[in-house]
Amino acid sequence: MLHLIIDTDTAGDDAAALLLALKSQDVKVDAVTVNCGNVSFDQEVENALYTVEFAGKGNQVPVYAGCRTPILKNWTTVEEVHGKDGMGNANFPKASKAVENVHAIDAIVGMINDNPGEMTIVELAPMTNLALAIRKDPSIVKKIKHIYFMGGTHNYPGNVTPSAEFNTWVDPDAASIVLGSGIPLTMVGWDITMKYGLLGKDDIDQIRLMGTANSKFFLQISSAEKAYLQKSTGLEGITCPDSITMAIAIDGSIATRTIPRYVMVDNRDGPFRGAISVDDYNIMLKDANVNVVYEADTAKFKKLLFDTLNGS
Ligand code: RIB
Ligand code: CA
Repeated sequence: MLHLIIDTDTAGDDAAALLLALKSQDVKVDAVTVNCGNVSFDQEVENALYTVEFAGKGNQVPVYAGCRTPILKNWTTVEEVHGKDGMGNANFPKASKAVENVHAIDAIVGMINDNPGEMTIVELAPMTNLALAIRKDPSIVKKIKHIYFMGGTHNYPGNVTPSAEFNTWVDPDAASIVLGSGIPLTMVGWDITMKYGLLGKDDIDQIRLMGTANSKFFLQISSAEKAYLQKSTGLEGITCPDSITMAIAIDGSIATRTIPRYVMVDNRDGPFRGAISVDDYNIMLKDANVNVVYEADTAKFKKLLFDTLNGS
């Protein structure tokens, strides 16, 4: 059984990834922690509560509110991508589930110390909560089993600036702390989304034909992202950055080519803020700190996603 802490800036693509984990027979979601990012923080918390409840785990999976802002930088939310509510303007009813009264940083530190070597973290957001948990109790770096993070981009344009992906751009200082922590890390960059995690028209039609509560939920929460992708790139489809990251955490065989690399992040202000550099030729003569995913099995990813959406 895979024990997960999922850190999220809950918008549509995060919620889809949460659903994959919450519905998996191979996963126990021990906690969901919320980080600043996609939309207003309180809305992200509400979206996480709603999604956990929608998945039928309202009484089992705690949701913890974390950092409302990055460590140092200012950032802008991206309602234009996800909708004002982050969920495709579904305006879902308020969840009956309440957020926990423990801060996410304390929850992460406590769970890792109580379960040394057992907890895997799936990082779907900027890494503020994670970085400050490491700062609060540095001993956890030796107790975290693995972190799979959706972040950065390698040999592929960024999505928030030409050089940076959104999660590492929002809080590059946090990313720098996590990349330097020594924790076992697997990076699933925006390049992997665009090459292997993009649903096309036929996929969307297949999901629509399922007619299940999960498929309707997915199409609703993805509708704003679909419209944004069409408007910004001309592509008809749905990008699944958080879902393909979650899928790889659940089934490692979906990542078909992963290479240990030395990875850096630019945490300066300016045009390269949040840019991730992967040292493919070991120019820096530094030990690898990240397992970088280079290729993934699209068919396997889609099967996991479709099986979840087609299920109850
Ligand atoms: O760049 C895509 C990532 O940024 C996704 O995790 C999305 O949810 C946002 O957090
Ligand atoms: Ca996210």
